[in-house]
Amino acid sequence: VKAELRTLQVREGSYSIYVGHGILSELQVLQPELRSARILVVSDTLVASLWLPTLLEGLSSADVGVLTINPGETNKNQQTLYDIYDHLLQNHYHRDTILIALGGGVIGDITGFTAATYQRGIQFIQVPTTLLAQVDAAIGGKTAINYGVHKNMIGAFYQPAAVWSDLRCLQTLPTRVYQAGWGEIIKYGLLAGGDLWESLSHYLSPNAAPLNDTGLIDLIYQCAAIKVGFVEADVREEASRVLLNLGHTFAHALEALCPEKWLHGEAVAIGLYSAALLSYQLRLLPSSFLEKIKTMIITAGLPYQIPASLDPTALITQMQYDKKIQSGRLRFILLRRPGDCFVESMVPKDVLYDVVSSATCP
Ligand SMILES: NC(=O)c1ccc[n+]([C@@H]2O[C@H](COP(=O)([O-])OP(=O)(O)OC[C@H]3O[C@@H](n4cnc5c(N)ncnc54)[C@H](O)[C@@H]3O)[C@@H](O)[C@H]2O)c1
Repeated sequence: VKAELRTLQVREGSYSIYVGHGILSELQVLQPELRSARILVVSDTLVASLWLPTLLEGLSSADVGVLTINPGETNKNQQTLYDIYDHLLQNHYHRDTILIALGGGVIGDITGFTAATYQRGIQFIQVPTTLLAQVDAAIGGKTAINYGVHKNMIGAFYQPAAVWSDLRCLQTLPTRVYQAGWGEIIKYGLLAGGDLWESLSHYLSPNAAPLNDTGLIDLIYQCAAIKVGFVEADVREEASRVLLNLGHTFAHALEALCPEKWLHGEAVAIGLYSAALLSYQLRLLPSSFLEKIKTMIITAGLPYQIPASLDPTALITQMQYDKKIQSGRLRFILLRRPGDCFVESMVPKDVLYDVVSSATCP
């Protein structure tokens, strides 16, 4: 193998995550069983126009079909799911088929859910092509589609057979999509603290030099390893895995109320600042950390404020659809400092209202 490569073994589902530069064209060398399998690549039209030829070149001796869908979050729905089922059935794909998800989190989530449900489950491989999907969405086996405006409401826990993160794919990302990935990276820094937080403080300080490939491979690998740690401890999110939702109670409500306004990573960035502000208002997080988090989000080119046009009551009402609700109570992930996050179900309504209003742009 010519490519630069780091490998992470995941016990849960026993699969490997490969992070490297140029690995897309070496898939079959690295995963020889692909040679004899029947494969369907699921991608979106945009990603396929950029990266499908490279993938197909690497899979040259295999039996490969391709299905492309329209890009974007609004297509992560039942209709697209049914279109994929139709294609699989009409073309007589059987249970020995392997689906390859070539794209961002949208393609990964819907292809994974197809794999979890088609003929009671077939194998799938994640080939994430956005930074967000490489550090987060492709890992951990959460698969889903949206239901109306409600995010990820229909889904399954279903682990991939492998994850292939090729840095080369990131070269064609529009700046906004690349930056959105940093929303989840900052989340990992806040969850893990320690060395990752220190590195991020450096990378996300004004005037820092851009990351080179080796630095980026290392960062993607570190985020993947943190996520794998949470997933292995609690695969079905019955306890500690819930912490990975830091910022997401706000983010999912924002995405539902304003479909297509933000990329997921942008909504997460606003959610992280909101969670930090809530922690500060509850006298848990010192103001110095709140300011630092805000600066990092801004330096990453991401939004941090809830827009003034949003009605705080509507946002809080939308949070009632959150999947973390237990015994009728909303649960928030709060933080005392980077590396020290916890779940809190007793956030007073007036403090929440205050935060949602004061996080708003003037
Ligand atoms: N399953 C999980 O654990 C998990 C975790 C986080 C996010 N998600 C989900 O992931 C989705 C967001 O993923 P995303 O941010 O990757 O967005 P996305 O999949 O919508 O991709 C964003 C855009 O970038 C384009 N694109 C993708 N790769 C490209 C490339 N290499 N070059 C040029 N353009 C490219 C896509 O066509 C799309 O238009 C959301 O639906 C979110 O809910 C899932």
